[in-house]
Amino acid sequence: MKAVRIHGYGGPEVLRYEDAPVPAIAPDEVLVEVRCAGVNPIDWQVREGRFKDGLGHRLPLILGWDVAGVVAEAGSAANGFAPGDRVYARAEIGRDGAYAEYIAVKAHDCARKPERMAFAAAAGVPLAALAAWKALFDEGGLKSGQTVLVHGAAGGVGSFAVQLAKAFHCVVVAATSTANVEMVKALGADRVVDYGHQDFAATVRDVDVVLDTLGGEMQARSWAVLREGGTLVSLVSPPDPQAAAGRRVAGRYAQAAPDGARLHLIGGMIDAGRLRTVIDTVLPLAQAAAAHGRSASGRARGKIILAVKND
Ligand SMILES: NC(=O)c1ccc[n+]([C@@H]2O[C@H](COP(=O)([O-])OP(=O)(O)OC[C@H]3O[C@@H](n4cnc5c(N)ncnc54)[C@H](OP(=O)(O)O)[C@@H]3O)[C@@H](O)[C@H]2O)c1
Repeated sequence: MKAVRIHGYGGPEVLRYEDAPVPAIAPDEVLVEVRCAGVNPIDWQVREGRFKDGLGHRLPLILGWDVAGVVAEAGSAANGFAPGDRVYARAEIGRDGAYAEYIAVKAHDCARKPERMAFAAAAGVPLAALAAWKALFDEGGLKSGQTVLVHGAAGGVGSFAVQLAKAFHCVVVAATSTANVEMVKALGADRVVDYGHQDFAATVRDVDVVLDTLGGEMQARSWAVLREGGTLVSLVSPPDPQAAAGRRVAGRYAQAAPDGARLHLIGGMIDAGRLRTVIDTVLPLAQAAAAHGRSASGRARGKIILAVKND
């Protein structure tokens, strides 16, 4: 099969569009014929070697762990799935990914693709929506009626965080650049802070949860907008426990994991018209390097998708 693999860590030039073996599946796995793969910052971070000792990867490695496609083969214990099923998944990150014509995925990490969503849009959902859900609700404890500040609201995670929080009847304050203000409003944000013209730390107050998708200075300046007892959740770096304790707020780090059952719920919300994917760009698989460049620019509006096979 065709795949984009790396044989060593480095810049976009290490991405090779080449032939690779079709993966074998275990009894509890499905072989998915990939229609589209979603691109996430973790893809180019792995390519650069940031996690080379931490994720158990072996080279050559196929990148990309968001997939939408069709089940080509189902293992004997791949409960609930059969050849021909249209599925989407965030696959386990420690093994070969979805920048390929086929990927092996644990059946319990898969869910049926939302019926009203095309493969390209569906491939943009899993990692970003699961991360947003985990950060807002599992780690942040966000509840209906509460207020959340979403940083990076126009990005992959942020665009789902805004919609998920609205779907659960929360008040959403979204921070974004001038160019994306209207787009973020259209996702349902109650208030948009244009960080090019406004200092969020001076104008936002008493929020219950901050979703940090940027880290660094943005994280450090976000403590001030929380109410007492509120929670800052970062998807980027573990918040400083001393900073949290000194202000009588909580700081938590969220890490998204594959979760087919939750993707099933998310798929229901998509089919009910309550969630959608904002698509920045769709590129052919062979242009993975361009996709990485766009993601690493930090300017993507929603999701970048690699198209592997047309319907
Ligand atoms: N821990 C986990 O499990 C997990 C899971 C998913 C993602 N993440 C991490 O979360 C981060 C966000 O992921 P993502 O997929 O949403 O990334 P993304 O799609 O690349 O986010 C891009 C967005 O970030 C915004 N942005 C960039 N620089 C900014 C700045 N200086 N101030 C404010 N906004 C800025 C941009 O919006 P504007 O152009 O409007 O500024 C852009 O829309 C990444 O670091 C990723 O690695 C972690």
